[in-house]
Amino acid sequence: MKFSHCCVIPLYFLTFTALSSLIASQTCKNSCGKIPIKYPFGTGLGCGDPRFQQYVTCDEEKLTLTTHTGCYPVTNIEYSGQVMYISDPSMSTCACTQTGKGFGLDWDAPFSFHDDTVFTLLDCSTTSSPVYKTSGGADDLDSNTTVIPQCDRAGGPICSFLYSCRAISLLDLPISTCCVYTPVDLGPSFEMDLQKLQCTSYSGFYSFNGQESNPENWKYGIALKYKFNVFNDYPSSCANCERSNGVCGYGGVYNTFVCNCPGGLNTTSDCFFQSSYNHSPRLLPQHTAGNCLIFSLAYFLVRIFSV
Ligand SMILES: *[C@@H]1O[C@H](CO)[C@@H](O)[C@H](O)[C@H]1NC(C)=O
Ligand SMILES: *[C@@H]1O[C@H](CO)[C@@H](O)[C@H](O)[C@H]1NC(C)=O
Repeated sequence: MKFSHCCVIPLYFLTFTALSSLIASQTCKNSCGKIPIKYPFGTGLGCGDPRFQQYVTCDEEKLTLTTHTGCYPVTNIEYSGQVMYISDPSMSTCACTQTGKGFGLDWDAPFSFHDDTVFTLLDCSTTSSPVYKTSGGADDLDSNTTVIPQCDRAGGPICSFLYSCRAISLLDLPISTCCVYTPVDLGPSFEMDLQKLQCTSYSGFYSFNGQESNPENWKYGIALKYKFNVFNDYPSSCANCERSNGVCGYGGVYNTFVCNCPGGLNTTSDCFFQSSYNHSPRLLPQHTAGNCLIFSLAYFLVRIFSV
């Protein structure tokens, strides 16, 4: 009977490694770097919601938003409030000024600016920048672009604080070249084209971080809102899938819902049926069958060798 041990143990080891390799083969990940990934975002093709897939991607554990103006690291996602925070390496902050091209969202992307986002245009030409012109004047040469807003006068203090930052104060720019440009007014194309606006750079932040007069500690970046769909309801099939440690995805010709389970299997419902290797009480049928097979095999071998 001693023999039985040396047979059963390697066999168990084999099944265990087989299961672990299945675990490792879950296509859709539930995190990208340090950022947890949940619906509607995904870590690859077939993961998350197809509408978001082309805009938000996970590459080498880095989550990135891509728009026609560039690629932007996603710094955080607040799932409860449906807000995605991104940074723009080309924007100016209190610590660093640099020339930039601007920022734009694709018109068909499922995102819009969060109300907390404040854009400030820096070093604008007071003579030629359209932000200083009254918009929509019939005699205006720029009447083609009637949606161009004026600067937000209430944002004056923001300009003063930003221009007091060392990096910006060194440039010795008159405060009149600063314009607080409220994103809700970016127009139907969601576009901030610095070249057209005749400004050298821009800064974006979404929170004063409780210190309105300390621009060094403001939270620089861009806050974007997203919606699940027109009615903004979280698909219940996906909620069930995530509750069972699955990751929501899509597949097939019609991009129908797929629940990608920790073992790498896809279901159309949830992963509760196969959660046995994580949560022992419920044994999944295959697993039990596998155990049976191994026991029988071991028993068979033991019988053969003990004859
Ligand atoms: C499961 O679904 C994911 C995401 O749609 C897909 O990439 C993967 O190939 C599917 N796996 C299987 C085993 O069908
Ligand atoms: C208006 O836009 C069109 C096409 O973009 C351009 O050809 C035209 O010159 C513009 N008119 C003015 C007054 O700017």
